[in-house]
Amino acid sequence: MNVYDSARMADVLAPLGYAQADGPEEADMVILNTCHIREKAAEKVYSELGRLRQIREQRAEDNPEDAGPVLAVAGCVAQAEGAEMLARAPFLDIVFGPQTYHRLPEMIVRAERAAKTGAGKKSSKGAGILDTEFPDEAKFDHLPQPRADIAAAGCTAFLTIQEGCDKFCTFCVVPYTRGVEFSRPGEAVLTECRSLVEAGVREVTLLGQNVNAYHGAAPEGGATGTASAAWDLAELITQLAGIDGLERIRYTTSHPRDMDDRLYAVHGSCEKLMPYLHLPAQSGSDRILAAMNRGYTAAEYQASVARLRQVRPDIALSGDFIVGFPGESEADFEATMELVASVNYAQAYSFKYSPRPGTPAALLENQVPDDVRGERLQRLQALLDSQQQAFNQQMVGRRLSLLLDRTGRRPGQLVGRSPYMQAVHLDGPASMLGRMVEVEITDAHANSLAGQLISGVQGPDLQPTAAMAPSEKPIGMEQIV
Ligand code: 5AD
Ligand code: SF4
Repeated sequence: MNVYDSARMADVLAPLGYAQADGPEEADMVILNTCHIREKAAEKVYSELGRLRQIREQRAEDNPEDAGPVLAVAGCVAQAEGAEMLARAPFLDIVFGPQTYHRLPEMIVRAERAAKTGAGKKSSKGAGILDTEFPDEAKFDHLPQPRADIAAAGCTAFLTIQEGCDKFCTFCVVPYTRGVEFSRPGEAVLTECRSLVEAGVREVTLLGQNVNAYHGAAPEGGATGTASAAWDLAELITQLAGIDGLERIRYTTSHPRDMDDRLYAVHGSCEKLMPYLHLPAQSGSDRILAAMNRGYTAAEYQASVARLRQVRPDIALSGDFIVGFPGESEADFEATMELVASVNYAQAYSFKYSPRPGTPAALLENQVPDDVRGERLQRLQALLDSQQQAFNQQMVGRRLSLLLDRTGRRPGQLVGRSPYMQAVHLDGPASMLGRMVEVEITDAHANSLAGQLISGVQGPDLQPTAAMAPSEKPIGMEQIV
């Protein structure tokens, strides 16, 4: 979601003349968009800020006319730490949360004014502007129409449809940093999606912290076949699937408790909905699931998986797991291993429990020692890796459809995603970027597949863009984590 939010910040800044710079050495402003989900992510912000401060000082030293970039921190670390962050990094100009970035122009004017009056000379003392409110107005109502070229940056795009969370899992900061659950109206989502498709997007990933709790206002008339005033996720997916030129739909992240009959059904009936679902279980122990306030048991989670496989037998499952939640015994951890063994994931993310300030679990006394957490994480990851390897291996010899979304590291190499979210490498001309193609899978690796082109399905030629170039960072979800 931070990737999406950053694109929307670029939308807000474009009318002011801002465009993307190559790096902080050239930039007039640097915004760090931050994540507070685990301690490691949050700590990175301060080391990065130290680096940016040095760049700013160096620029001022090299050229007395150059005050260096305005420095801003956005996102959930900014939201959670607010004034504390300004005290720890007094050279910052702007600190703002995920719900106020539509007010960026106003914040920039205030920062510029402070710089002129000397209150915020951009060396050791920044302008110190703070906006971490949860405003009454919905930011989406105040953002400009998304610049599809910024959002699309290739043939795949994220699209936020829901934000915030009311679930209050006891380990999680999201309800405090992103705020209460909010769904965008159905028509706003459709409009944004149409403009993305016009800009060349063929796959959208619908985003929300609790995306399957989506209940956006329906355009007049309500949902098809019902008198409801809101669209649920199943209805939204069905409506989006009607957009010509949109080939693939995905959504993330779902809560097992919000899987409902209509959503299961749409996995069976909607061809554009990809057979891949990220459905975090977090633990396989009922005792720990209750302490986490997850609202389901391991058996209920397994029942969800069974229903999905009933309607879509080939569906690939992904998940999130936390090991070493306070009070987790060896037997609790074994229950997680058993759940993983029974579900058989195509891939999954797993984390050591990280106490987050202000969350109930951080106050529990029976914290699990770090070495135990580390050892359990290793065991879980070994099992998940072996499942992923086996899942990839069974693709060899099969034909899969791919959306070619970037060039590979080797000249002449292209990369696309399979329906099951695997990265597939193949040789082909760059003119095929943005196309759906058929490939035969020739080889499987731990994190990717290799394939050979069988046919290129009709589609417009796209000029390769910077976003389609090989990235130092892994593509897709990993980038967010
Ligand atoms: N410690 C470790 N992992 C966490 N997650 C969320 N909060 C924490 C925490 N305090 C993980 C969950 C969630 C994913 C996005 O991050 O598994 O699904
Ligand atoms: Fe956090 Fe997800 Fe739980 Fe909400 S449902 S509190 S976002 S882990």
